[in-house]
Amino acid sequence: MAIKFHHIYFSYAPKSPFQYDALHDINLEIKQNSFTAVIGHTGSGKSTLVQHINALLVPTSGAVKVEDFLILPCKKKKYLRQLNRKLKSKKVSAEQKQRLAFLKSIVESGAAYKVKELRKKVGVVFQFPEYQLFEETVIKDVAFGPKNFGVSNEEALALAKNALTLVGIDESFYSRSPFELSGGEKRRVAIAGILALKPEILVLDEPTAGLDPLSAHEMMEVFANIHRAGTTIVLVTHDMDLVLRYASDVVVMKDGKIVEETTPQKLFADVKEEYSLEVPAFYAFMQALVQRGCPLDITKINTVSDLAKMVKNLKEQAK
Ligand SMILES: Nc1ncnc2c1ncn2[C@@H]1O[C@H](COP(=O)(O)OP(=O)(O)OP(=O)(O)O)[C@@H](O)[C@H]1O
Ligand SMILES: [Mg+2]
Repeated sequence: MAIKFHHIYFSYAPKSPFQYDALHDINLEIKQNSFTAVIGHTGSGKSTLVQHINALLVPTSGAVKVEDFLILPCKKKKYLRQLNRKLKSKKVSAEQKQRLAFLKSIVESGAAYKVKELRKKVGVVFQFPEYQLFEETVIKDVAFGPKNFGVSNEEALALAKNALTLVGIDESFYSRSPFELSGGEKRRVAIAGILALKPEILVLDEPTAGLDPLSAHEMMEVFANIHRAGTTIVLVTHDMDLVLRYASDVVVMKDGKIVEETTPQKLFADVKEEYSLEVPAFYAFMQALVQRGCPLDITKINTVSDLAKMVKNLKEQAK
C-alpha cells in the first residue's frame, strides 16, 4: 500500500493564539513495501507527519491517500465544497488554483477513510508507547486489538501470544499489569499490541529509544523480518546506523518541510552540513579508506559485517 501526501499543511491549535504551523506543503510518496526512514532535527515535524498515516492527526489542509483511503481535513463533501468555493474565488491566484484543482482531483478519486479499516491496515507505535497501554494484564492488552476487530477470543489470544513471543516477552509476563513494567518492557508490549493486528503498514516512531543495545537490535530484526514478509515500514529515527542498515528510502525533514527524499547511501555519501547528521562511524571509516586509495565499493556496504566481508575479499584478491 502506497502512502501519498498531497499539499499537506498542519497546524496545532489552529485559529487560536497558540496556533503552531508544524507542517508546510508536504508532498511525498512512501512506496509500497519500502522501508522508509524519516529523519530530521528535534521539532522538525517527523511525529506530526507520521501520525497522519492512520489519521491520529488529520491535515489542516490537503489530502493524505493510503491506498484508496483519503484522510482529509473534514468530510469529503464538505472539503469538495470548500475547494470549489476557492476555485471560483477571485482572490485566489492562478497558481494556487492549479494546486487546488489537483487536490480536488485527488479528493474525487478516493473514498473517505473508515477509522476501523484504516487502523487495521496501518499500525502505529507512538514515540511514547506507554500511553498506548491500558488493560489490566499484558496478555489482555495485546489481545485487545484483534478482539476489537472481531476476531474470536481464542484467536485473539493466539495472535497476542505470537506477537509477544516475537518481541521477546515470555509467558511469565502475561498476567502482569502493563503499568508495572520497565520502560523497555512497556515498549515491547506496546509494539506487540500493534504486531498482533498484522498491519500492512507499520509506522514506528523511535521504536528502540530506551531499549538496551541488544534488545534494540533484536527489535529491529523483528521489524526487518516483518518488512521482508511484505509490510511497508515507516521508521522515525535519530539513529543513522539504523538508517544505513535497514532503510531503502530516506525522507529528511527540516522546519516542517521535506528537504530531501533520497536513499541512505546517497545521503551519507554527500552529507549536507545544514542537516548536521552524524554519519555512522564505520561509514566514515570506509570513506577515509577510499580517500586513501582503498578500492572499496561502499555503495554495497550497509553494515560492519558487510565491510568485514569486503575487506577479506580484497585481501584474498591481493594474494
Ligand atoms: N500538541 C502540540 N501542540 C502544539 N505544538 C506541538 C504539539 N506537538 C508538537 N508540537 C510542535 O510541532 C513541532 C513538530 O513536532 P514533532 O513532535 O512533530 O517533532 P519531531 O520531529 O517528531 O521531534 P522529535 O525528534 O523531538 O520527536 C515542534 O515544534 C513541536 O513543538
Ligand atoms: Mg517525534
